[in-house]
Amino acid sequence: MPLQNPKEVAGRRAAEFVTDGMTVGLGTGSTVYFTLVQLAERIQSESLAIRGVPTSVDTERKARELEIPLVELADIGSIDLTIDGADEIDPDFNLMKGGGGALLREKVVAYISEREVIVVGRAKLVERLGTTFLLPVEVVPFARPVVARELTRLGATPNLRVTDPGAPYMTDNGNEILDCRFEGGIEDPAALEIALGRIPGVVETGLFVGLAHVVVIGNDDGSCEVRARP
Ligand code: A5P
Repeated sequence: MPLQNPKEVAGRRAAEFVTDGMTVGLGTGSTVYFTLVQLAERIQSESLAIRGVPTSVDTERKARELEIPLVELADIGSIDLTIDGADEIDPDFNLMKGGGGALLREKVVAYISEREVIVVGRAKLVERLGTTFLLPVEVVPFARPVVARELTRLGATPNLRVTDPGAPYMTDNGNEILDCRFEGGIEDPAALEIALGRIPGVVETGLFVGLAHVVVIGNDDGSCEVRARP
Protein backbone atom coordinates (compact mmCIF):
# COMPACT_ATOMS: atom_id res chain seq x y z
CA MET A 1 0.00 0.00 0.00
CA PRO A 2 1.48 3.44 -0.91
CA LEU A 3 2.48 5.61 2.06
CA GLN A 4 0.09 8.40 2.94
CA ASN A 5 0.65 11.67 4.74
CA PRO A 6 -0.46 11.01 8.37
CA LYS A 7 -1.19 14.73 8.77
CA GLU A 8 -3.61 14.65 5.87
CA VAL A 9 -5.25 11.47 7.17
CA ALA A 10 -5.87 13.02 10.62
CA GLY A 11 -6.70 16.51 9.39
CA ARG A 12 -9.34 15.38 6.93
CA ARG A 13 -10.87 12.81 9.32
CA ALA A 14 -11.38 15.44 12.05
CA ALA A 15 -13.47 17.58 9.72
CA GLU A 16 -16.14 14.89 10.03
CA PHE A 17 -16.80 16.04 13.61
CA VAL A 18 -18.20 19.30 12.25
CA THR A 19 -21.95 19.50 11.78
CA ASP A 20 -24.30 22.04 10.24
CA GLY A 21 -24.65 25.34 12.10
CA MET A 22 -21.52 24.99 14.21
CA THR A 23 -19.11 27.73 15.19
CA VAL A 24 -15.73 26.09 14.64
CA GLY A 25 -12.33 27.08 15.99
CA LEU A 26 -9.76 26.76 13.23
CA GLY A 27 -6.33 25.81 14.56
CA THR A 28 -2.96 26.53 13.00
CA GLY A 29 -0.38 24.40 11.24
CA SER A 30 0.22 21.93 8.45
CA THR A 31 -2.13 19.25 9.83
CA VAL A 32 -5.10 21.58 10.34
CA TYR A 33 -4.53 22.83 6.81
CA PHE A 34 -6.05 19.55 5.60
CA THR A 35 -9.00 20.07 7.93
CA LEU A 36 -9.57 23.45 6.28
CA VAL A 37 -9.43 21.85 2.83
CA GLN A 38 -11.90 19.14 3.85
CA LEU A 39 -14.25 21.70 5.44
CA ALA A 40 -14.13 23.80 2.28
CA GLU A 41 -15.01 20.71 0.24
CA ARG A 42 -17.94 19.93 2.56
CA ILE A 43 -19.17 23.53 2.36
CA GLN A 44 -19.32 23.12 -1.42
CA SER A 45 -20.64 19.56 -1.68
CA GLU A 46 -23.04 19.44 1.32
CA SER A 47 -23.91 23.14 1.65
CA LEU A 48 -22.50 22.84 5.19
CA ALA A 49 -23.17 26.10 7.06
CA ILE A 50 -20.44 26.93 9.57
CA ARG A 51 -18.63 29.96 10.98
CA GLY A 52 -14.90 29.67 11.60
CA VAL A 53 -12.78 31.38 14.24
CA PRO A 54 -9.14 31.42 13.06
CA THR A 55 -6.30 31.07 15.60
CA SER A 56 -3.69 32.94 13.54
CA VAL A 57 -3.21 35.37 10.72
CA ASP A 58 -1.95 32.44 8.63
CA THR A 59 -5.10 30.37 9.19
CA GLU A 60 -7.30 33.40 8.56
CA ARG A 61 -5.64 33.89 5.18
CA LYS A 62 -5.94 30.20 4.25
CA ALA A 63 -9.60 30.08 5.36
CA ARG A 64 -10.43 33.16 3.28
CA GLU A 65 -8.72 31.63 0.24
CA LEU A 66 -10.81 28.48 0.74
CA GLU A 67 -13.97 30.61 1.19
CA ILE A 68 -14.72 29.37 4.70
CA PRO A 69 -17.00 31.95 6.38
CA LEU A 70 -15.36 33.58 9.41
CA VAL A 71 -16.65 35.30 12.52
CA GLU A 72 -15.00 37.64 15.07
CA LEU A 73 -14.48 36.55 18.67
CA ALA A 74 -16.46 39.62 19.75
CA ASP A 75 -19.54 38.30 17.95
CA ILE A 76 -19.72 34.90 19.65
CA GLY A 77 -20.09 33.66 23.21
CA SER A 78 -18.55 30.24 22.78
CA ILE A 79 -17.24 27.83 20.17
CA ASP A 80 -18.89 24.46 19.54
CA LEU A 81 -15.78 22.65 18.38
CA THR A 82 -12.16 23.50 17.69
CA ILE A 83 -9.80 21.44 15.58
CA ASP A 84 -6.12 22.15 16.16
CA GLY A 85 -2.72 20.52 15.81
CA ALA A 86 -0.04 19.87 18.43
CA ASP A 87 3.70 19.37 18.64
CA GLU A 88 3.57 16.72 21.38
CA ILE A 89 0.79 14.91 23.21
CA ASP A 90 1.23 12.78 26.33
CA PRO A 91 -0.92 9.85 27.55
CA ASP A 92 -3.01 12.24 29.73
CA PHE A 93 -3.88 14.38 26.69
CA ASN A 94 -1.60 17.21 27.83
CA LEU A 95 -0.24 19.07 24.83
CA MET A 96 2.80 21.02 23.80
CA LYS A 97 1.89 23.61 21.16
CA GLY A 98 3.27 26.75 19.58
CA GLY A 99 5.79 25.49 17.06
CA GLY A 100 4.10 27.81 14.59
CA GLY A 101 3.98 30.64 17.13
CA ALA A 102 0.19 30.73 17.41
CA LEU A 103 -0.03 29.47 21.01
CA LEU A 104 -1.79 32.49 22.52
CA ARG A 105 -4.70 32.68 20.09
CA GLU A 106 -4.89 28.88 20.04
CA LYS A 107 -5.26 28.80 23.81
CA VAL A 108 -7.87 31.57 23.90
CA VAL A 109 -9.93 29.69 21.32
CA ALA A 110 -9.45 26.34 23.12
CA TYR A 111 -10.53 27.95 26.40
CA ILE A 112 -13.96 28.93 25.06
CA SER A 113 -14.47 25.73 23.05
CA GLU A 114 -16.91 23.09 24.23
CA ARG A 115 -14.83 20.44 22.50
CA GLU A 116 -11.21 20.51 21.39
CA VAL A 117 -10.17 17.93 18.80
CA ILE A 118 -6.41 17.55 18.24
CA VAL A 119 -5.08 16.28 14.94
CA VAL A 120 -1.61 14.72 14.78
CA GLY A 121 0.51 12.18 13.00
CA ARG A 122 1.51 9.28 15.26
CA ALA A 123 5.05 10.70 15.64
CA LYS A 124 3.65 13.41 17.96
CA LEU A 125 2.73 10.92 20.71
CA VAL A 126 5.24 11.05 23.59
CA GLU A 127 5.46 9.56 27.07
CA ARG A 128 6.56 12.89 28.56
CA LEU A 129 6.18 16.45 27.22
CA GLY A 130 9.38 18.31 26.45
CA THR A 131 11.33 15.27 25.30
CA THR A 132 11.14 15.89 21.55
CA PHE A 133 10.17 19.57 21.45
CA LEU A 134 11.10 22.82 23.18
CA LEU A 135 8.41 24.59 25.22
CA PRO A 136 7.48 27.92 23.61
CA VAL A 137 6.86 30.77 26.05
CA GLU A 138 5.42 33.97 24.56
CA VAL A 139 6.86 37.04 26.28
CA VAL A 140 6.42 40.81 26.14
CA PRO A 141 9.69 42.06 24.56
CA PHE A 142 10.39 44.55 27.39
CA ALA A 143 10.29 41.77 29.98
CA ARG A 144 12.36 39.21 28.08
CA PRO A 145 15.57 39.43 30.23
CA VAL A 146 13.56 39.09 33.45
CA VAL A 147 11.51 36.20 32.10
CA ALA A 148 14.63 34.45 30.77
CA ARG A 149 16.28 34.62 34.22
CA GLU A 150 13.16 33.25 35.92
CA LEU A 151 12.87 30.44 33.38
CA THR A 152 16.46 29.45 34.09
CA ARG A 153 15.68 29.45 37.82
CA LEU A 154 12.84 27.01 37.07
CA GLY A 155 15.29 24.63 35.38
CA ALA A 156 14.81 25.64 31.74
CA THR A 157 17.34 26.67 29.11
CA PRO A 158 15.57 29.45 27.17
CA ASN A 159 16.49 30.42 23.62
CA LEU A 160 15.07 33.40 21.78
CA ARG A 161 13.25 32.29 18.62
CA VAL A 162 14.68 34.14 15.62
CA THR A 163 13.75 34.53 11.98
CA ASP A 164 16.05 33.65 9.09
CA PRO A 165 17.94 36.98 9.05
CA GLY A 166 18.45 36.58 12.82
CA ALA A 167 15.88 39.10 14.07
CA PRO A 168 13.58 38.13 16.97
CA TYR A 169 10.56 36.21 15.70
CA MET A 170 7.36 38.24 16.30
CA THR A 171 4.05 36.58 17.09
CA ASP A 172 0.74 37.77 15.62
CA ASN A 173 0.37 39.71 18.88
CA GLY A 174 3.69 41.60 18.63
CA ASN A 175 5.45 39.48 21.25
CA GLU A 176 8.59 37.32 21.25
CA ILE A 177 9.03 33.62 21.97
CA LEU A 178 11.54 31.91 24.25
CA ASP A 179 11.86 28.23 23.33
CA CYS A 180 12.74 26.35 26.50
CA ARG A 181 14.63 23.10 26.89
CA PHE A 182 13.86 21.03 29.98
CA GLU A 183 16.49 18.36 30.50
CA GLY A 184 14.69 15.00 30.75
CA GLY A 185 11.37 16.60 29.80
CA ILE A 186 8.62 18.19 31.89
CA GLU A 187 7.78 16.23 35.00
CA ASP A 188 4.55 18.01 36.00
CA PRO A 189 2.98 20.05 33.15
CA ALA A 190 0.14 21.43 35.30
CA ALA A 191 2.48 22.69 38.04
CA LEU A 192 4.85 24.19 35.49
CA GLU A 193 2.03 25.98 33.71
CA ILE A 194 1.02 27.64 37.00
CA ALA A 195 4.61 28.58 37.87
CA LEU A 196 5.19 30.13 34.44
CA GLY A 197 1.94 32.07 34.62
CA ARG A 198 3.20 33.82 37.77
CA ILE A 199 6.16 35.42 35.98
CA PRO A 200 5.37 39.01 34.95
CA GLY A 201 5.94 39.43 31.24
CA VAL A 202 4.89 35.88 30.33
CA VAL A 203 1.91 36.23 28.03
CA GLU A 204 1.21 32.52 27.49
CA THR A 205 2.94 29.16 27.23
CA GLY A 206 2.61 26.27 24.81
CA LEU A 207 1.46 23.94 27.60
CA PHE A 208 -2.18 22.95 27.09
CA VAL A 209 -3.32 21.07 30.18
CA GLY A 210 -6.84 19.62 30.36
CA LEU A 211 -7.99 21.36 27.19
CA ALA A 212 -8.04 18.48 24.67
CA HIS A 213 -11.04 16.16 24.54
CA VAL A 214 -10.38 14.04 21.47
CA VAL A 215 -7.19 13.14 19.59
CA VAL A 216 -7.23 12.02 15.97
CA ILE A 217 -4.01 10.17 15.12
CA GLY A 218 -3.09 9.64 11.49
CA ASN A 219 -0.91 6.73 10.38
CA ASP A 220 1.19 6.51 7.25
CA ASP A 221 -0.72 3.43 6.03
CA GLY A 222 -3.74 5.74 5.67
CA SER A 223 -5.55 4.46 8.78
CA CYS A 224 -6.66 6.67 11.62
CA GLU A 225 -7.23 6.24 15.35
CA VAL A 226 -9.66 8.38 17.33
CA ARG A 227 -9.08 8.53 21.09
CA ALA A 228 -11.39 10.29 23.54
CA ARG A 229 -10.10 11.54 26.89
CA PRO A 230 -11.36 9.15 29.57
C1 A5P B 1 1.00 26.48 16.00
O1 A5P B 1 1.55 27.45 16.79
C2 A5P B 1 1.14 25.15 16.65
O2 A5P B 1 0.61 25.05 17.92
C3 A5P B 1 0.61 24.05 15.76
O3 A5P B 1 -0.71 23.75 16.05
C4 A5P B 1 1.47 22.86 15.97
O4 A5P B 1 2.82 23.30 15.81
C5 A5P B 1 1.19 21.73 15.00
O5 A5P B 1 1.69 22.04 13.75
P1 A5P B 1 1.74 21.00 12.57
O6 A5P B 1 0.37 20.45 12.39
O7 A5P B 1 2.22 21.82 11.40
O8 A5P B 1 2.72 19.91 12.94
